[in-house]
Amino acid sequence: MIQVELIKDLKENIKIAKSSNKSIGFVPTMGYLHEGHMALVNQARIENDFVVMSIFVNPAQFGPNEDLDRYPRDLERDTKMAIEAGVDLLFYPQAHEMYPKDGGISIQAGQLANVLCGASRPGHFDGVLKVVTKLFHLINPTRVYFGQKDAQQLAIIETLVRDYNFPLEIRRVETVREVDGLAKSSRNVFLSEAERKQAPAINRGLHLGVDYFMKTFEAEKAKQLTIQHIEQFTSGKIDYVELLSYPDLSIELADASTIILAVAVFFEKARLIDNIIININEV
Ligand code: PAF
Repeated sequence: MIQVELIKDLKENIKIAKSSNKSIGFVPTMGYLHEGHMALVNQARIENDFVVMSIFVNPAQFGPNEDLDRYPRDLERDTKMAIEAGVDLLFYPQAHEMYPKDGGISIQAGQLANVLCGASRPGHFDGVLKVVTKLFHLINPTRVYFGQKDAQQLAIIETLVRDYNFPLEIRRVETVREVDGLAKSSRNVFLSEAERKQAPAINRGLHLGVDYFMKTFEAEKAKQLTIQHIEQFTSGKIDYVELLSYPDLSIELADASTIILAVAVFFEKARLIDNIIININEV
């Protein structure tokens, strides 16, 4: 696996791959890799000739009181995992390499960021768009892989790609879960032992809500069932539980063919998110 820290080395290697007409699959990450990331690499491996992964804990997407400084990092372990998964090129820049001069042009996520995580984390998705725009330009990938756990991120990046004609395809990959249903996340390491035991209630609560909605089409009651279950079985504090159309993230469900029931829950040291996306017509 080629490992590069500098943009000039990244570009050089991309140029070589492109000159032999290789399709490029790109997996952007913030590191502390887990099976969720590996599923993205596996998919990228199947569909492309050359797989690039980035590891960059992007300061631009963290608010002032968020967990940028204590976000888990382990480049040595990540490197081994990337090699085993079959990544061809690992790009792990420093912040000054990515943002040597800051304060210029900003990209705004707009109204898709007014709900869910965007409402609780102002500016978060602007920061995500800033880094992915830069990475997309540097890597010029054929396909880019994102997990469905970050469903709002996925919807916003798909909109960026569509509205600004990025010549690449966004590929959605299903959420990978622990056997008890908890969605894999780098932040799960911050759960205490007791919280870890409680956390699968998030996914169970989502299932209760979605099942009820599919029988009744009553969004408010469906959300209440999810809230009740999470409150009953965890010590976490609910940030939001929302039922929206997907991917346009509207509360107007009348014409929606696909819906998302999404939650965010604060535990002592971790804020966890999860969702279920369901095509109403296919059930
Ligand atoms: O999903 C993530 O890990 C990050 O938001 C991303 C897409 C790598 C951008 O920093």
